[in-house]
Amino acid sequence: MKGIILAGGSGSRLRPLTKVTSKQLLPVYDQPMIYYPLKTLLDGGIRDILIIVAPDHAGDFLKLLGSGKDFGCKFTYEIQDKPEGIAQAFIVGQNFIGNDSATLILGDNIYEDTFKDEIASFKTGARIFIKDVKDPQRFGVVEFDENNRATSIEEKPKTPKSKYAVTGMYIYDNTVIEKVKKLQSSDRGELEITDLNNLYLEEQSLDVAFVDGRWFDTGTFESLHEAIIFVRNRELAKKKIK
Ligand code: TTP
Repeated sequence: MKGIILAGGSGSRLRPLTKVTSKQLLPVYDQPMIYYPLKTLLDGGIRDILIIVAPDHAGDFLKLLGSGKDFGCKFTYEIQDKPEGIAQAFIVGQNFIGNDSATLILGDNIYEDTFKDEIASFKTGARIFIKDVKDPQRFGVVEFDENNRATSIEEKPKTPKSKYAVTGMYIYDNTVIEKVKKLQSSDRGELEITDLNNLYLEEQSLDVAFVDGRWFDTGTFESLHEAIIFVRNRELAKKKIK
C-alpha cells in the first residue's frame, strides 16, 4: 500500500493567509497542518508516501519534511502544475503507484480516528470514509437505498439526499489509474473525486466506512479555527494525564 498526501490547491478561501504560503503549511495549534494527515497515514502503517505540491511552495515542503527519515518513512515529491482536481493525484502519481494500491489523503483534512484496520484489510475496489455533518452541501454526499446500500454520490448538491459527507481519505486498488484516465473535467475544470468514486460504485466495488471520531476539513476560517481548538484541547488533556 502506497500513500499520497495531496497538498497543492490554491487555498483561495483562506486568503490572505495563503497569499505567501501554502494552506497545508499553516499552523494547526502547535504543528503545520500537513503533519496531521501525515500522522494518519503513518498510524495506518503506510511508510512509502508521495507528497503532491503546487509549484510555488515545493521548496518549503521539502525543507519542512525532508527525505522522511525523521518520520520513519520515505517521501517522494511531485508537482501538480495546476489545481485541476483531486482525482488528478492519480495521474501525477502514476509512476509512484506502480502496480500497488494507494491511500490518498487531503493535506487539509484532520482525523481524530486511526485507520490501521481499514487500510490493512483493504484488498480490491475502493473504500471511502463518510461522516454525518451539518452542512453536507459543501461536500460529496452519499445517497443510500432502503437496505442502507450506497446508490449514488453527488458533488456539492443543493438539496443533499443524506447528511453523510465523503471525507478526504480514499483507498483505491490499482485500477484507479485506468479509471481516472476515463474521467472528463467537470464544469469547474477539475477531475472530480466524486466521479471516480461513482465509477467504483457502478462496478459495485465501492466500500463505505464510517468515521466515528471528529473530522475537520480545514479549508475555511471557521473550520480551521474549530480544528485548532480541538487539537489544543486534546494536547492540553494529554499534558494533564502526564
Ligand atoms: P479544496 O479545499 O477543495 O481546494 P483549495 O485547497 O484549492 O482551496 P479553495 O477552494 O479555498 O481555493 O482542496 C482540498 C484539498 O485538496 C486541499 O488540501 C488542496 C488539495 N487539492 C490539490 O492539491 N489539488 C487540486 O487540484 C485540488 C482541487 C485540491
